[in-house]
Amino acid sequence: MSEIMIQGGRRLEGELHIAGSKNAILPIIAATLLCRDTVYLYNCPKISDVVLMIQILRQLGCRVIWDDKVLMIDTSTLNSSDVPAHLVSQMRSSIILLGAIIGRCKEARIGMPGGCQLGKRPIDMHLDGLRKMQVEITEYEDFIQCMTLNLQGAQIHLNMPSVGATENIMLAAACAQGTTTIHNAAKEAEIVDLQDFLNACGANITGAGTKKIIIHGVSELKGITYRIIPDRIVAGTYLVAGAITRGNIILNDVYNRHMQATINKLRAIGCHINEEQNKVILSVAKPLKGIGLKTEVYPGFATDMQSQFLALLTTCNSISHVKENIFDARFKTAKELCKLGAHIIVDERKQIATVHPTPHLIGTSVEAMDLRGGAALVLAGLVAKGCTNVKNIYHIQRGYEDIVRDLSKLGANIWYTEERK
Ligand code: EPU
Repeated sequence: MSEIMIQGGRRLEGELHIAGSKNAILPIIAATLLCRDTVYLYNCPKISDVVLMIQILRQLGCRVIWDDKVLMIDTSTLNSSDVPAHLVSQMRSSIILLGAIIGRCKEARIGMPGGCQLGKRPIDMHLDGLRKMQVEITEYEDFIQCMTLNLQGAQIHLNMPSVGATENIMLAAACAQGTTTIHNAAKEAEIVDLQDFLNACGANITGAGTKKIIIHGVSELKGITYRIIPDRIVAGTYLVAGAITRGNIILNDVYNRHMQATINKLRAIGCHINEEQNKVILSVAKPLKGIGLKTEVYPGFATDMQSQFLALLTTCNSISHVKENIFDARFKTAKELCKLGAHIIVDERKQIATVHPTPHLIGTSVEAMDLRGGAALVLAGLVAKGCTNVKNIYHIQRGYEDIVRDLSKLGANIWYTEERK
């Protein structure tokens, strides 16, 4: 198990290419279970969550070949509808396999995803939606058993626009009988990518990207070749790396329209951002100032960018207030940033962090508490005096191909080292 070491103090400069999106490819891999012939996914990010998803598909009997950035999935050999608890517990988002497995096999048994680093994370909306579609669900302590004789389209109203519930219902409905309408659906870019993938395979879905998604069930889906959208959160993280070091960086192969909330907030604190087609150029020419920030569902400011901004806002020259509205335990990274000398006060009840300007962060040993929080600590290390070592980097590897490679390319003094016992 290795750690990341960063010797802070270098301004980042240069260009990066942004890989495919984790949160787009995971549901699309689930969707391949509905396809009768081989699917080829291009721009597949080399991250551990994809490795785990592939492991689950192989466990179900599918054939998967991963050749550089192309993932070939053949689900014609599928022979199980059982996703073991130990695999689900390693990656909560594997719950999105449920809708696809039911769509394909009319039955499923899947480990119960518990809470995680981000909080309790119930799946009530996923299960309520599937129940409306005539799926019989029995919940046991550590697994869920599902069965349906006739998967039937339904009118489904989500209490809140959950990304995972929207995806699970889309997957179950794609090959169900009749029409399913999801009201108050999530509008994330990754939902649109899932719709685009499914439609290219022969599904009949409209409305992704709006509050109402309509899915007319079709009898089966075919295999296709498809390119995954770029990862807007990885891109946002690297823009913050540029901003926190007062650097000058260019991101290529991004979809600017997916990143507007992040770009707007970077502009609000004083960064200069130029947008060209599939390219974002960031530079910093003046002192950065604190702002108010609240996380919201897409297209609002993403909860997945909150920790990185906490790190950045400590380096601004006035107070910031950050309100977390999506997850109930996403401020754990604040405590780690404080070990580096940040002055952040979290009101747990109100889920608000007050970030005071910090003249200098000082390198020390910190622990990644979750994926984005881990990335935020690496960003803080880029400007901390001396050496910062970030532990538990398996969290970071879930969603970043190689943060050390990418930041080194921009000039950071950063490397892997073996963990000391
Ligand atoms: N929720 C419920 N009941 C449900 C489903 C969700 O109460 O049945 C609650 C959750 O507990 C949470 C809120 O609704 O408080 C939002 O959850 P949502 O279902 O939208 O999130 P998710 O599908 O579990 C995805 C991303 C997350 C991202 C969130 C919000 C994937 C694989 N994961 O999670 O990504 O933060 O949407 O945008 O798409 C990350 O990449 O670091 C990450 C955590």
